[in-house]
Amino acid sequence: MSCGLVVDIPRTTTDGLPQRTPSLPSTAFLKLFDRRHAPRFRDDFCVQPYAQGMEEACVKFVQSGEADRFLSRLKTDSDLAEKEGGDWDDAECEAYLASEAMQLRNTEMAIYDVLKPLQGKQIPRVLSGVTLDIDPRSHANVTASNGAGAVAVAASHPTPSSAEPNYVFHVHGLLLEYLEGFTMAELVKHAPQSAWQNVVDQAVEIVRKLDEYNILNEDVRPENFMVVKTSQEQGGTKHHDCTSCAASGYHVYMIDLAMCRKRGEDESDSEWGRDKCDQDEEGAVGYVMRTILAREKFMLDFVNSRQYRGFAKYET
Ligand SMILES: Nc1ncnc2c1ncn2[C@@H]1O[C@H](COP(=O)(O)OP(=O)(O)OP(=O)(O)O)[C@@H](O)[C@H]1O
Ligand SMILES: [Mg+2]
Repeated sequence: MSCGLVVDIPRTTTDGLPQRTPSLPSTAFLKLFDRRHAPRFRDDFCVQPYAQGMEEACVKFVQSGEADRFLSRLKTDSDLAEKEGGDWDDAECEAYLASEAMQLRNTEMAIYDVLKPLQGKQIPRVLSGVTLDIDPRSHANVTASNGAGAVAVAASHPTPSSAEPNYVFHVHGLLLEYLEGFTMAELVKHAPQSAWQNVVDQAVEIVRKLDEYNILNEDVRPENFMVVKTSQEQGGTKHHDCTSCAASGYHVYMIDLAMCRKRGEDESDSEWGRDKCDQDEEGAVGYVMRTILAREKFMLDFVNSRQYRGFAKYET
C-alpha cells in the first residue's frame, strides 16, 4: 500500500551546514504510507481514487473539530469502517485511510525494532523514521519526525498516533537502507541458474529466523525479498560476513514487514503454532519458488521443516 522512492541524502543541510547524521549513506529508500498514492489500498477500502479537491474537504473537517469527533468514534469502535464506511464523505474516508496507513507504518517500524539484530544482514537497515507534512495550509512541506527544521530525516523514531492534531495531513514512513537489486520474483530474469538454489535457501533461512523472534509474517511471497549482487552492495566490503551469500554472489533480504505480527504475551503454544502452521511461511517461499523455477526446468531442492505441523487444525 506504500509508495517508494530512491532518495539522495545530501552531505550538507539546505543552510550549507554539515548533515547532523553523517553516518547516513548517500542513497536510501524512502517507504511512505501515503493515503493519497495507494490505489490498491483505497480500492480495498472501497474509497474513491484520490483527487486534489479532497484536501480542501479535509481542511474544513479538521478546522471544524469534526475530525476529532470522528477519530474518537474510530478509536472506540473498531468495526466502524465495516458498518458505516460506505456512507462516509470524502473527508471521513481520508481521515480513516490516514489512521490505517499510520497503523501499518507503526507495525512495520515496531517489527524492524524487534528484528534489529537482522538489520543490514537479512532485512534492510532502518535509517530513520520520516514524517511529511502535507497540510495544504503549511508553507514547509517536509519536517523531521523530531520536529526539528525542514529536513526529512530524524534520528529518533517516535511512534506517531492519531491523537496528534492534524494527523490527516501527516504522511509517515521509513527511511531504509537502499537495496540495489531485484525482487526474488524476477530471479530467473536477473540471475544465472547457478545462483537460484542458494538465493532461495537464503530466503528460507530468513523466514526460519523469524521464529527466534516470535514473529509471524502474513505476507511472505517472492516479491517481498530483494536480491542484491554482493559485488554491487553499497559500501563494497560491508557484507563480507554473509557466508551464505558466497555460494551465489547474491545477498537476499526480506522486505515489507507491515503484515507481520509479534506473538501475544499470553498467546498459548497451540494458538501461535496453529497460526504459524496455517501461514506456512517456509512453503510460501519454497513451494512457490519451486513452481516458478520448474517452468525453467529447474528442480529446486526444498524440504519444508513443517515444524508447526503438530498444531495443525486437521491432520495432514
Ligand atoms: N530497501 C529497499 N531498497 C530498494 N528497493 C526497495 C526497498 N524496499 C522496497 N523496495 C522496492 O519497493 C517495492 C515495494 O516495497 P514493499 O513491498 O516494502 O512495499 P508495499 O507497499 O508493501 O508493496 P506491495 O503492496 O506491492 O507488497 C519492492 O518490491 C521493491 O521493488
Ligand atoms: Mg511488498
